[in-house]
Amino acid sequence: MDLKITCIPGDGIGPEIVAEAKKVLDAVAEKYGHVMHYTDILMGGASIDAYGVPLTAEAVAAAKSADAVLMGSIGGDTTTSPWYKLPPDRRPEAGLLAIRKELNLFANLRPAVLYGELRGACPLKEEISAAGFDMLIMRELTGGLYFGERRTTEENGVRKAVDTLVYDENEIRRIAVKGFDIAMKRRKKVTSVDKANVLDSSRLWRSVVEEVAKDYPEVTLEHMLVDNCAMQLVKDPAQFDVILTENMFGDILSDEASMVTGSIGMLASASLNDTKFGLYEPSHGSAPDIAGQDIANPIATVLSAAMMLRYSFDLDREADAIEDAVRQVLKEGYRTGDIMSEGCIRTGCKQMGDLLAERIR
Ligand code: IPM
Ligand code: MG
Repeated sequence: MDLKITCIPGDGIGPEIVAEAKKVLDAVAEKYGHVMHYTDILMGGASIDAYGVPLTAEAVAAAKSADAVLMGSIGGDTTTSPWYKLPPDRRPEAGLLAIRKELNLFANLRPAVLYGELRGACPLKEEISAAGFDMLIMRELTGGLYFGERRTTEENGVRKAVDTLVYDENEIRRIAVKGFDIAMKRRKKVTSVDKANVLDSSRLWRSVVEEVAKDYPEVTLEHMLVDNCAMQLVKDPAQFDVILTENMFGDILSDEASMVTGSIGMLASASLNDTKFGLYEPSHGSAPDIAGQDIANPIATVLSAAMMLRYSFDLDREADAIEDAVRQVLKEGYRTGDIMSEGCIRTGCKQMGDLLAERIR
C-alpha cells in the first residue's frame, strides 16, 4: 500500500521524535511491503522563523493533500522565546488551532494507559495503581471556548476581556457519536463530563449525549461534573473507559489523566474528522529545555504513528507490531530518562528508535 504522510516536525524535541517515528514506520514498510511517501511542512515556531506566520496556506494545502499528518510538537519557552512577544494570533499555538479548524479535526482521542512495566512511575498510591487503568479521553476539538468570539476592551479605564463558549447540537452530536463508537470497541462505558449545574452549553451537551445514547443500548452512559471528574481521576482512575467531553474540559482533564500514568512521554493522540483523515501527535509538549540532546522519549510519537496506521489506513496488524515492539523493549528494560528506574538500561532518543525498528524487523 502507498501511504502519503505529511510530517510536521515542529519545535523543541519535535524534529528528533518525528525522525524516530519515521524510522519505525520505515521498518514497518519494509516488513509488510508498504511504501511511505513523506512530505515535511513547517508549523509553529519553525514556521514563524521561516515565514513570519505559524502556519502558511501552502502548509495547509500540503496537509490536506496527504492521507494523514504525523506531528511532533510545537511551541517554545513562553517566558523566554521571542515567539511569545508576538500578538496571540501569530504565536506557535495559533498554528495548531488553525490546522485543527482548517482540517475539521473535531474529535481528539487521548488514551491514558498505565503500562504494567511502568507501574512504579505512577504517582498514585499503590492501592490505587494496583488496579491499573486504561481510559480514552474523547475531546471535542474545534468548538467551545477555543473558537468562540473573544475580545479585550477598556471601558472607563477598566480593562475587560470576554471569551465565549458556544456549542450547537450538531457539534455535540458528532463528537458524541465518535465517543459511543469507540466505546463499542472497548469496555462499553461512556462518562460524559460537563458542568451542567452551571452552564447552558453543558445542559445542551447532556441532553444531546442522551439522545445519541439511545442508539447504543449496549453502552452504559453516566454523566459526571467536571470538578468531580478531576477528583475521580486521582481517586479511582480504573472506573473510566471513555471520557467524552468538550474542548476546554478535555484539555485540562487529558493533562491530568496523562500525569497519573506517570509517563506522559508514552502517550499518543489522534485528531480526526469525519473521513479517514487524521492528525497524529504525542500528548506531550515540545520540551524546549531538553531539545537537541538526544534524550527525549520518542515512544509517544511512535505510538501516534501506530494510531495513524490503525485509524487512517486500517493497518491493524502493522499497528499491533509497533505496539508489541514498544512493550518488548520496555520488558527488556530499556528506558529513556523520563521513565528511567533502577536496574533499567538508559537509552537516548535515537537508540530507542533503533531498538523499536529492530524489534519490528
Ligand atoms: C493541547 C495543547 C493545546 C490546546 C495548546 C498548545 C493550544 O495544550 O493540545 O492540549 O490547548 O489544545
Ligand atoms: Mg493541553
